[in-house]
Amino acid sequence: MTDTRESSTRDNAAHSERFAPSAEFAAGAVASRDLYDAAEADRLEFWADQSRQLIHWHKPFTEVLDWSGAPVARWFGDGELNVAYNCLDRHVLAGNGDRVALHWEGEPGDTRTLTYAELTAEVKRAANLLTSLGIRHGDRVAIYLPMIPEAVIAMLAVARIGAVHSVVFGGFSAESLRARIDDAQAKLVITADGSWRKGKVSPLKPAVDAALERGETTVEHLLVVRRAWPDGEKLNWVQGRDLWWDEEIAQVDADHVARGFEAENPLFILYTSGTTGKPKGILHTSGGYLTQAAFTHRNVFDLHPESDVYWCTADVGWITGHSYVVYGPLANGATQLLYEGTPDAPGPGRWWELIEKYGVTILYTAPTAIRSFMKAGRDIPERSDLSSLRLLGSVGEPINPEAWLWYRSVIGGDSTPVVDTWWQTETGGIMISALPGVTETKPGAAQVPLPGISVEVVDDAGEPIEHGDGLLAVTKPWPGMLRGIWGDPERYVETYWSRFADAPDGPWYFAGDGARKDEDGDIWLLGRVDDVMNVSGHRLSTAEIESALVAHPWVAEAAVVGASDETTGQAVVAFVIIRARHRETVSAEGADSLRGHVAEQIGAIARPRQVFVVDELPKTRSGKIMRRLLRDLAEGREIGDTTTLADTTVMQIITDEVNDSR
Ligand code: PRX
Repeated sequence: MTDTRESSTRDNAAHSERFAPSAEFAAGAVASRDLYDAAEADRLEFWADQSRQLIHWHKPFTEVLDWSGAPVARWFGDGELNVAYNCLDRHVLAGNGDRVALHWEGEPGDTRTLTYAELTAEVKRAANLLTSLGIRHGDRVAIYLPMIPEAVIAMLAVARIGAVHSVVFGGFSAESLRARIDDAQAKLVITADGSWRKGKVSPLKPAVDAALERGETTVEHLLVVRRAWPDGEKLNWVQGRDLWWDEEIAQVDADHVARGFEAENPLFILYTSGTTGKPKGILHTSGGYLTQAAFTHRNVFDLHPESDVYWCTADVGWITGHSYVVYGPLANGATQLLYEGTPDAPGPGRWWELIEKYGVTILYTAPTAIRSFMKAGRDIPERSDLSSLRLLGSVGEPINPEAWLWYRSVIGGDSTPVVDTWWQTETGGIMISALPGVTETKPGAAQVPLPGISVEVVDDAGEPIEHGDGLLAVTKPWPGMLRGIWGDPERYVETYWSRFADAPDGPWYFAGDGARKDEDGDIWLLGRVDDVMNVSGHRLSTAEIESALVAHPWVAEAAVVGASDETTGQAVVAFVIIRARHRETVSAEGADSLRGHVAEQIGAIARPRQVFVVDELPKTRSGKIMRRLLRDLAEGREIGDTTTLADTTVMQIITDEVNDSR
């Protein structure tokens, strides 16, 4: 019998244990060293080749990259493609129509299986439905759906007709939804009555109603998928505006021919948090994005589409769901699992039961989930047969070596490669990761840029460093890169391209992450260097939460920090100054209701772990809040250098106040 175990080497430095691929894995691996060599020899030709191999072009491209309008790139600019056709029809035409595209399981245990032929048929109808509702090429459609097949169908239907989707995570509040609808000027919202979460119905349509009640809107129709209340009896219904998805789709034609759109046709807008209170609408286009999504999905996950069952646990409301639930896997003809609910419903072993039931071979999830499983104990996953798993992936935040090793050992049966993948909403696809079967893996390090991706760790002046700590920069344009911030070209340049604008070969991309390059040349991600927090792998802006807090009548001023948290990576900790006239109420009631207020304003993911009432905030002479000092306090560390404070005694007062209330 072949030994499938990877061999491990440990050298003296802490956490520099490495795992070499097993001979068996390496022999069957999709990726090879040749990819690095080819990209090294000619980066643009490498991407052009990948694109021709992985994508069907309605009209082949002759240009690869036009960077003359930097920092806006045009990839494959004179080509034409249809993204949905690439994810659907062509697999059917190639004889794979009977292959399962989606194994879907609802939280209550109901199931649905869609083959590529069935999914294609559904998307064709949905495309006709959108057209019948007046949606045209370039129009924006907001999608506010749970993890049900219609989420995938809706996204692909929008793409199929050359319109632009803006998926809003179902956990966001009515307020956040409305801000996104307005910014993108969406004409249509696709939602569901509700979804199942932890054994209960979590309503969605009522949030859309509430969002649309707030004054004039560009939204003409609401398409509602029936999911949680079969009779719809609990729903408010606006005649003429609101339509049931199932009733409408039954009336449209089943045939739809996908036409090609230009490679730079906008595919989607996805909002993400930046350093100001206003989320940024990150714009992605078609040909380059799909190329990178398909390339990375195939090579980083060692995809064998005929035999693998792939599961990415991300919600389609995040970029990971876009690139690694919808576009990458479907472009590659993968069979995947889609699960509606939470990992612990109805019991703590739900994920592992699903892996056993569907024979999942590739699992892609976030460190925060791994750490919470670690906390709950290995006996829970050990109740299920996880032997089908052969590759594990991690994304969204730094994975600590302990969690990496636990993941590999307990979930991966001490034998699977673990790929830690670094990327962002803005990058569209994975940028830094080991290639399984090729690269040795190293717990805690995202490791090396993928073939065709150029990354440096640089010092403050933008000079690349051999090893040590610095900032992460992407030094060459890449196919999946964002093409802008919706409606705000200046912010695009300012946020990403001004920091290293003077690089010798054109502007470099500033990722906003700190990074370390170790002696082996491997890259370790060290977290954000700006006012963006990462809570359970979700990006949140301190400014956004602060503005939600000061919108509350009690709050005069607020400062928010991301404090390290054992399970969620970081947690939101808020410091608030209460207006004089409300101080009595707050000292009687406590400030806890402010946590709920933030959750209502933004969404449950933004709920602060703690809210401390203080009399002052630490400010510099120019009035800038020194969040670094508050973070020291929230993390129970000694307070750092306070010399630049306008009043250096302030931190002592705040510390006493916080300690009193703890
Ligand atoms: O700080 C990095 C962290 O997540 C940020 C991007 O967040 P978002 O756009 O929401 O996309 C998350 C999913 C791709 C990055 O700036 N991040 C993402 N992956 C990793 C990571 N930090 C460390 N290691 C990773 N593998």
